Amino acid sequence: MSKKKRVAVFVSGRGSNLQALIEGIAKNGIPAEIVLVVSNKPESFALKRAESYGIATAVFSPADFNGPEAFTEALLKRVREADIDLICLAGFTRILPSRLLAAFPQRIINIHPSLLPAFGGKGMYGMHVHRAVLASGAKFSGATVHIVTEEIDGGPIVCQEVVPVDDDDTPETLAQRVLDVEHRLYPRALKLMAEDALEISGLRTRIKQRVD
Ligand code: GRF
Repeated sequence: MSKKKRVAVFVSGRGSNLQALIEGIAKNGIPAEIVLVVSNKPESFALKRAESYGIATAVFSPADFNGPEAFTEALLKRVREADIDLICLAGFTRILPSRLLAAFPQRIINIHPSLLPAFGGKGMYGMHVHRAVLASGAKFSGATVHIVTEEIDGGPIVCQEVVPVDDDDTPETLAQRVLDVEHRLYPRALKLMAEDALEISGLRTRIKQRVD
């Protein structure tokens, strides 16, 4: 059994994926422990969820800092102090600073509510994604967990699940079915990362052959 990974989850909103990760770790024997929840918004309901589980929280609101460098510096310091191995973005609405990406190469994952590389990139977040899926006429959407790189929503895919689009779907009904899938997908992705189970080659990932 690998040593437990120390995980930080970055959030901005309601935190249902944070909750799924907390529950998934407890239920599925994932060798990980969420030791820090970071939000850029003090009003995030996700912070309340974290507190209710006794998880340390930190708010880093860019407006409270004297420029982006100071913001990045403070954020990096806090993450380093907590001795973090892995970062999960769960509805975090800010683009991560390059310095943070460089400090955690292939150690930051994100969940996105579509089948990437479709319906990803700049401006594709929240209901914009589901509206764009419906407008395109696509018959399938889904959820993706990927490794975060400089390319927005463009890093190697850890895992994915398909959600069929129904004829009567509205952006709201599609969002809800995708969200239900996200909640089982994210713990699965965290398990793969926490167990160092993936080999990454370019944009492709595969589960390593075990030798034991
Ligand atoms: C999810 O749909 C996720 O895919 C996207 O932001 C939303 C966050 O929801 N990145 P929640 O805060 O986890 O409930």
